[in-house]
Amino acid sequence: MNQQRPPQVHLETFGCQMNEYDSELVRSLLTRDGFAFTDDRERADVILMNTCAIRENAHNKVYTHLSDLRALKRQRPLVVGVLGCMAQNLKEELTEKEPLVDVLAGPDSYRHLPGLITKAMESQEQGELRRQMAVDLSEYETYDDVAPDRRDGVNAWIAVMRGCDNFCSFCVVPYTRGRERSREPEGIVAEARLAAAKGFKQVTLLGQNVNSYRHGDWDFARLLVAVADVPGIERVRFTSPHPKDFPAALLEAVVSHPRICKHIHLPVQSGNDRILNLMSRTYSRSAYLGLVDQIRSSCPDIVLTTDVIAGFCSESDEEFSDTYRLLEEVRYHAAFIFKYSERKNTIAARKWPDDIPETVKSERVTALADLQRRISHERNRAYLGTTLSVLVEGDAKRSSLQSKGKSDGNITVVWSKKSVPADPGQMIQLSVYDCSASTLYAAPPA
Ligand code: SAH
Ligand code: SF4
Ligand code: F3S
Repeated sequence: MNQQRPPQVHLETFGCQMNEYDSELVRSLLTRDGFAFTDDRERADVILMNTCAIRENAHNKVYTHLSDLRALKRQRPLVVGVLGCMAQNLKEELTEKEPLVDVLAGPDSYRHLPGLITKAMESQEQGELRRQMAVDLSEYETYDDVAPDRRDGVNAWIAVMRGCDNFCSFCVVPYTRGRERSREPEGIVAEARLAAAKGFKQVTLLGQNVNSYRHGDWDFARLLVAVADVPGIERVRFTSPHPKDFPAALLEAVVSHPRICKHIHLPVQSGNDRILNLMSRTYSRSAYLGLVDQIRSSCPDIVLTTDVIAGFCSESDEEFSDTYRLLEEVRYHAAFIFKYSERKNTIAARKWPDDIPETVKSERVTALADLQRRISHERNRAYLGTTLSVLVEGDAKRSSLQSKGKSDGNITVVWSKKSVPADPGQMIQLSVYDCSASTLYAAPPA
């Protein structure tokens, strides 16, 4: 290892917010041990990919990236590491098929990472290739003592729990992230305080099913309020609550606390009872719709969003129509619509064939996406002429002459910088004059 300069690490993150958060833990753990980080892949001694295994296309992205690295690795000494859910789930496949991978570390093994990388660099110097692996899942690891090294300046992710015990039949997460465990509330609140002290205005609490958060007398509603009470934090969000057990106290907290955002992401997956049952979601269509009614009657201006899977094993046209009609009925502000993707080792993969043809899956996804686009556009039109509080995030995607931010309900708002100059982290009032299905266009209030 070059003693003059710390090894330069380039870290890329795929997948969900939990992975974003874990990458911040990884940065912190490696920095502690004398590694440095670079955004420039060309200058890196170590390239790490924090990967996702949720659907086939998540895998494909990582394999494409790995093959890009092959050429780089021929040019200079380079350690390549695969972290995260794919490392955990596909250890055999990755080790057998990908001689390129020097280090594998699953989500509960990041404390070993500095040692693994150092060993990989040493063995490379000695001209031997020995893969370094740590893929044991833990019942206890919550990284409570590791302060995440955050980059984004507005939102701080905070994991309140790790793992998942729900075993929805389609889902790989219980296998990649292991058993569910809740962090100590004191550590979570302290992390929120630290984020506030560093200037973060928003905290998003993360868990695969936040409603099963338990620690002594603490449940999720109590934790959410405690975080929202941290001085300096202006907005608190959370994701995801499972529809099977949405407690009244949580709804009460969302309704009454001024700093808890009026947005609930409530993944439905399917609108048909037989499919919901096959998915092991443990709620029925009518129970779900009852929950939506209860939420809307306590909080009429709540923004609801969801996740849907189309083309699950044996889903008939009629059963699919139930999902279509549920979207028409609930009229979510937004929905993430996924084609069912069979995942190795899951209950569905073991029990039933993935028997809906690709073309049918695609048609179903397109039908739902078209419907949802129409509904989202209509929902957004309801904001025309209203004034919203917007948390400024930075430059808009399309043009650096425009800024973007989020409404309390998590809808993207775009405005011209000239009309309202504002810095990331500022909370400003804007009036909506136009919209698309995904964006509200705004100007200074008259
Ligand atoms: N824990 C979260 C979900 C995390 S995964 C929850 O239960 O709310 C995010 C979404 O990916 C899921 O809600 C589901 O819609 C989708 N998903 C998970 N596994 C999938 C699979 N095998 N095929 C297609 N979509 C899947
Ligand atoms: Fe997967 Fe279900 Fe757990 Fe969500 S609740 S992570 S969908 S097993
Ligand atoms: Fe997240 Fe993907 Fe793992 S969605 S939990 S990174 S499988």
